[in-house]
Amino acid sequence: MTKNKNSRFKKSKIAIIGANGGIGSAIIHKIFEIDSENEVIEIVRTRKHEKQYQIDMLDEQSISNCAEDIKNNYGYLDIIINATGILHIGDYKPERTFKEISYEYLHEIFKINTFSPFLISKYFTPLLNKNNTSIIAFLSARLGSISDNNLGGWYSYRSSKAALNMLIKTLSLELTYRNKNAICIGLHPGTVDTNLSSPFTDRMKNKKIFERDQAAEYLVNIINDVDVSQSGDIIDWQGEKIDA
Ligand SMILES: NC(=O)c1ccc[n+]([C@@H]2O[C@H](COP(=O)([O-])OP(=O)(O)OC[C@H]3O[C@@H](n4cnc5c(N)ncnc54)[C@H](OP(=O)(O)O)[C@@H]3O)[C@@H](O)[C@H]2O)c1
Repeated sequence: MTKNKNSRFKKSKIAIIGANGGIGSAIIHKIFEIDSENEVIEIVRTRKHEKQYQIDMLDEQSISNCAEDIKNNYGYLDIIINATGILHIGDYKPERTFKEISYEYLHEIFKINTFSPFLISKYFTPLLNKNNTSIIAFLSARLGSISDNNLGGWYSYRSSKAALNMLIKTLSLELTYRNKNAICIGLHPGTVDTNLSSPFTDRMKNKKIFERDQAAEYLVNIINDVDVSQSGDIIDWQGEKIDA
């Protein structure tokens, strides 16, 4: 059943981790468009304005301190969206063959796409509202699906997202007894025109490439409509479950 349009994004307390990113910043824009009374907590690695929380996404103490500050200032969160992620780093691009596997690239990709969401889960999940439906959503990717892998390549990115998807499923199971009002999901935004995708979009002329605001609208709609029976799922921009 479709809920009231965007009702979860009205007067809500929403944390966006990766608030300066292409998708993260577009989601924030969308949230304020829906209701300027939403309280949005922006978490970034490099502060662009003084209201943002600056953290080291890989430092446990830094993440823990940030969660503690949010608890003291806001009490709880209705929605948490983790919109961080990487695909290319400097000269490193996704592998076309196993011969291109590099420990350094693999490690960097896993640090941001996987390890950081693990730490975020540890310190931010306890902040989820226990009295009303609350949601923790991670930006994942269809490329993390093992059953959907028909092309090969992109070893590190695919694997980092597959591991993230396991985190999402496992966390959703723990939430069934720790916080029955909480939902944990992964989101596949489609291909979106951001820094992450830009080196590759030229080769994707036959694919739909979304503008950031369009992608943000799809993602906000999914978060608005999702129910507890979908907790643990990876859901694409159309609202369809992606098989593991
Ligand atoms: N764009 C697509 O086509 C697409 C498709 C499928 C899935 N996704 C997923 O969507 C998510 C958002 O991607 P995007 O397209 O919005 O990319 P983006 O514009 O490059 O944003 C990436 C975000 O990750 C943060 N980040 C990157 N490296 C970091 C590091 N070392 N430490 C801390 N933060 C770091 C960035 O922070 P800074 O702003 O400080 O750099 C930024 O907030 C990712 O998880 C991605 O895998 C994207």
